[in-house]
Amino acid sequence: MNNGAHDKKCEIWAIGGGKGGTGKSFVTSSIGTHLASKGNKVVLIDADLGGANLHTLLGVSKPRNSLTDFFEKKASLNDIIVNCGMPDIGLVSGTLSSLDSENIKYAQKLKLFRQIKAIDTDYILIDLGAGSHNNTIDTFLLADKMIVVTLPEITALENMYHFIKNVFFRKLKIILSAHGLKDMIQDVWKNRDVHGIKHLKDVVEHLMGTSAHVRDIIENELASFKIYIILNQVRSGREVMIGSSVKSVCLKFLGFDAQYAGHIEYDESVLRCINKRLPFMLTHPFSHVAKEIIKLTENLKDGRQITVTADKYANRRL
Ligand SMILES: Nc1ncnc2c1ncn2[C@@H]1O[C@H](COP(=O)(O)OP(=O)(O)OP(=O)(O)O)[C@@H](O)[C@H]1O
Ligand SMILES: [Mg+2]
Repeated sequence: MNNGAHDKKCEIWAIGGGKGGTGKSFVTSSIGTHLASKGNKVVLIDADLGGANLHTLLGVSKPRNSLTDFFEKKASLNDIIVNCGMPDIGLVSGTLSSLDSENIKYAQKLKLFRQIKAIDTDYILIDLGAGSHNNTIDTFLLADKMIVVTLPEITALENMYHFIKNVFFRKLKIILSAHGLKDMIQDVWKNRDVHGIKHLKDVVEHLMGTSAHVRDIIENELASFKIYIILNQVRSGREVMIGSSVKSVCLKFLGFDAQYAGHIEYDESVLRCINKRLPFMLTHPFSHVAKEIIKLTENLKDGRQITVTADKYANRRL
């Protein structure tokens, strides 16, 4: 607990990824179940306001209370946390009855963020919807651990890159705005041809070259900027290696080192389990998938990543 004997700080993890159907909700529910099984108190927030279904993956029917009560009836977030059948896991359902998630007012968003940060628990896991809308990105940026779930296929990787790029751009904008340099990044991007800028990495380098003051701001603020990658539904050692390619692309075009937290293999029992509304980690605790989820959760907790080398993985069968 927040104010518990060890005075452990609550950690917020957000799970996003750009493309729909990559396994964000499956990963969120599975990580949450694992953390709770280790004695942590966990609150899961379904922030996929247009297509909330986290409750299904946890094996419960749609909760009566949801974020609709928060946005429309002024209920507090604590009041709409429901128990979802497992001890130590609370759920905030994202179902919105009438509100369009993209039209949530700025003040409402800030209120939601304030109340998320005030929840008394060990871990808060936020399951985000697909897409790169500003509300989605701001919720992602709220987290202590920003986690992206992607698939080893080109469309998912493209959407993920687009998502990460937008997250990074927005983070830079927020950093500079906070120091009274609101329009700086837009101006540089608008005049990118003049400055010979092709990628976001060049923007950062250009900005840092403008003055020692700006360089210090960016260096300090970005020192803790980390995005963790989870590759889901992998079917071969070659696909596992795609996580390393994602790292290289982020480094080359965005200039930061994404962390490869782990991979999860494709397993048909995941779908069977979801269709039966059974929480996978409880029904298949000794499966490969469960072991991989445990491993990557521990990596995320410790801020560790995996190293994948061609000699170990290129011809490896899963
Ligand atoms: N490791 C896996 N092996 C096999 N199938 C999987 C695996 N992970 C996820 N799936 C399948 O992918 C489907 C989509 O998963 P999930 O609902 O978690 O995705 P999502 O990213 O949350 O989607 P959305 O963007 O629509 O919210 C699941 O119903 C399940 O059938
Ligand atoms: Mg989902």
